[in-house]
Amino acid sequence: MRQGFPRITRWLAPGVVLLLTACAGEHPQTVLRPITDYGRIQSDLWATVTWWTVGIMLVVFGALTYILVRYRARPGDPPPKPIYGSTRLEIAWTIGPALIILFIAIPTIRAIFETQAEDPEGALVIQAIGHQWWWEFRYPELGVTTANQFYMPEGRPVSLHLSSADVIHSFWVPRLGGKKDVNPVVRTPEGVRPLHLNRIVLQADSTGDYKGQCAEYCGTAHAIMYMLARVVDEAEFQRWIEDIRTPMEPAGDLAAQGREIFQRSTCIACHTIEGTSARGQLGPNLTLFGDRFSIAAGLMANNEENLTEWILHAPELKKGALMPGARVGGGGMPPTGLSREDARAIAAYLSDLRRPLLGARPAGSAAAPPSTAPDTMVGTTDTTGIAADTASAAADTARQQPQL
Ligand code: CUA
Repeated sequence: MRQGFPRITRWLAPGVVLLLTACAGEHPQTVLRPITDYGRIQSDLWATVTWWTVGIMLVVFGALTYILVRYRARPGDPPPKPIYGSTRLEIAWTIGPALIILFIAIPTIRAIFETQAEDPEGALVIQAIGHQWWWEFRYPELGVTTANQFYMPEGRPVSLHLSSADVIHSFWVPRLGGKKDVNPVVRTPEGVRPLHLNRIVLQADSTGDYKGQCAEYCGTAHAIMYMLARVVDEAEFQRWIEDIRTPMEPAGDLAAQGREIFQRSTCIACHTIEGTSARGQLGPNLTLFGDRFSIAAGLMANNEENLTEWILHAPELKKGALMPGARVGGGGMPPTGLSREDARAIAAYLSDLRRPLLGARPAGSAAAPPSTAPDTMVGTTDTTGIAADTASAAADTARQQPQL
């Protein structure tokens, strides 16, 4: 026995170290540090239940250990006396768990009611609409629509109205709070009939970029259905609204050419860009596309090279995507037939649709520095985090830079 100890420690030590590495590093999608009241109600409940169970575990294992040691078989002991039934014990172990369930149920029910409350006065309504495989965000009171990345004011109640354009998705930005199903709206000849539209009412108290993703298997590209919640202060939120409403002019020749190609291609059948004739409703709204953290809901970092490839090869790059490529059709649409030069020009145009710098309000007069995000972010949430952080850092740098 004595020699067994070092051997166990030899295996145990690296095991513990490995386990502890799970606590290191950045966790952009942690549920343990919520930044909203909604998230905190849930994480407090989780903590309550966890501590209850830890307490129960200690009692059970403590009693078990004591009994195993105290009543262990000793050499020469007679066989133990069999015992059948003990009314007192049976009542005790029926009432005990019932009480535990009650203790857990009370805060749980309270949390359910708290998180299902009506929209508070002055809440900003944001409709989050799930699509295979991207997110649409509409601000009905403000007449603004965006995709995959949405802005939220800090310190103001927000009511997220969740619905789906196709199958069931699940809205989950862990640091905003727990996931909720995004259910389809049924369209009948009599009109639109919601099945069960969920809401999340929350108020964020910390600015920053918070990553999220679809949390319900919804088909081929379910794993590439990311989103980014950008929580900003009220003034910055108002600036964003102003920017997204202001038509942007492309800055360079290539971008201007791209806009022209975009407007005469099939792109406009599905996409909208504010201030242009593109009014399509099927695909993501591309207004201020250059500002987005990614291409195709987290598939790739948002830069011109990636965007060119996406425009040319969307169906190959994201299996199941409805967007047609240059040579391969998609979503019932024929191939776009765009040449590489066309795609490059369109990519330059879309990348130019960025928020203007502070002090450079006339639209389209400058662009943020190019993103240095990695080329791809498929399948690795961490890389998406880096891309999001980089995009945000780039945006911050852009805001701070004086107009040249
Ligand atoms: Cu949408 Cu999974």
